[in-house]
Amino acid sequence: MKGSNSKERSVVEEARTLFYERALVRLDGKCVGAVAAIPKKSNFDLGGDNLNYGEIFIRDNVPVMIFLLIEGKYDIVRHFLESCLKLQSNDFQTQGIFPTSFIEDRGKLCIDYGQRAIGRVCSVDATLWWPILAYIYVRRTGDHQWAIRREVQIGVQKFLDLILHPQFRDAPTLYVPDGAFMIDRPLDVWGNPLEIQVLLYGALLAAAGLLRISLEIQGYFHPTAKIHSIKLQDSLADKQNYQFQYAIAWAKRLRSYLLKHYWVNSKTVQTLRRRPTEQYGDEVANEYNIQTETIPHWLQDWLGNQGGYLIGNIRTGRPDFRFFTLGNCLGASFDAISSAQQKSLFHLFLRNRKSLFAQMPLRICHPPLIDKDWRIITGFDRKNLPWCYHNAGHWPCLLWFFVQSVLRFKRKYGDLGSDGEEIEAMLHESYDLLLERLPQQKWAEYFDGPEGIWIGQQARIGQTWTIVGFLLVHHLLKVNPADASIMDLPSLRSLTALKVFR
Ligand code: GLC
Repeated sequence: MKGSNSKERSVVEEARTLFYERALVRLDGKCVGAVAAIPKKSNFDLGGDNLNYGEIFIRDNVPVMIFLLIEGKYDIVRHFLESCLKLQSNDFQTQGIFPTSFIEDRGKLCIDYGQRAIGRVCSVDATLWWPILAYIYVRRTGDHQWAIRREVQIGVQKFLDLILHPQFRDAPTLYVPDGAFMIDRPLDVWGNPLEIQVLLYGALLAAAGLLRISLEIQGYFHPTAKIHSIKLQDSLADKQNYQFQYAIAWAKRLRSYLLKHYWVNSKTVQTLRRRPTEQYGDEVANEYNIQTETIPHWLQDWLGNQGGYLIGNIRTGRPDFRFFTLGNCLGASFDAISSAQQKSLFHLFLRNRKSLFAQMPLRICHPPLIDKDWRIITGFDRKNLPWCYHNAGHWPCLLWFFVQSVLRFKRKYGDLGSDGEEIEAMLHESYDLLLERLPQQKWAEYFDGPEGIWIGQQARIGQTWTIVGFLLVHHLLKVNPADASIMDLPSLRSLTALKVFR
């Protein structure tokens, strides 16, 4: 570790030991990924073991798999992807979905697709993450032989069958129930929450990338074919070509839609505030009949002159202007927003540093639901009290996503603009905070209060994505910033270019 002091070395060592020796578990006799939180033992004894934290969550394993790829442990990542693939649902109603979590317990496989979850929430994000992680694996390792395997391509096909099908709505967004992603409890995140839409965008690009590798290697790729001209016969290649074109067309529409309906800055808000309502027909300014009163006043100060971000949700008459950290970071990492917009987003993070970073970076969303809103919307959820848990609590596992998106921007687009130095200093100071506090506070899952000072009231201890998130921040800032490109997905342009993969 270049230039590190002994305290830093010992914290990194502690995190690595916890991760490699306590968090990783086996399936079918081989290391497959990590449990959500390290089970009770000695001084890690605050975690309750009666819940599902001893299972392998797909979403919690996203940072785990990225870290393992960086560490060159490709076999574990491949085994994880293949294990998830075997668990992709074949049931009539849920065909194509991936489980929220799974574990092998005394030789028996225990799987949760949501039917065992608290409140019976279903995790849509897990299904969207699988093609993204599969693509990232293939890109990092160059393992095209794996990408073209029949079971992998069938998995991609089943995923696309689930997403790309006729439906009642014309919007390209994915409509989901409350609590369908990392925020897996009622928090008014039903409808078209940002995180799901950005993951959908990434998953469509990734799935198209995997399809293209297969088609190109087999010599079946028809880049100029028009979607309606592809005759669907029985061959896998026909279907692959069809789904490839369909996925790209969908991703293009989705991106334009996100930029039109979700992106806000001080200029767009002025326009939103002056829109007419009650309009009918094709060419209207206010498609979702949103009243000006839904635009919150805190937005003025939050955005300033230069800030911009993707809002939390668009629904008929009920937009959600809350700021959701992960959806916005992924919006930058997957280039769902332009490079100029990414700069405005990073500026917004800096401008609102006191709220978003405070004493434990990063806050999951802002502002919290309070009073009557909290009572009605969360259903008196005591875990989601204002400033707690998902309701504006602070999650150290989120910092690496931000660090990755900023460092990726620097490598890809260059200058961060006039506040570039301040943004970079903020990354390092945030890392120092984690370094100082996480080992003291036993790598807790989340932190409560407006400053994020208190360990979350019901937080697990020895939470894997807290540990591995710290290791990723350390790696990206101190070891190899070039690895920030690990999340790169194929761009729309590269997917339709004539030759890419060979
Ligand atoms: C909680 C979190 C969820 C996470 C799970 C396991 O349910 O809300 O996002 O995946 O714990 O850590």
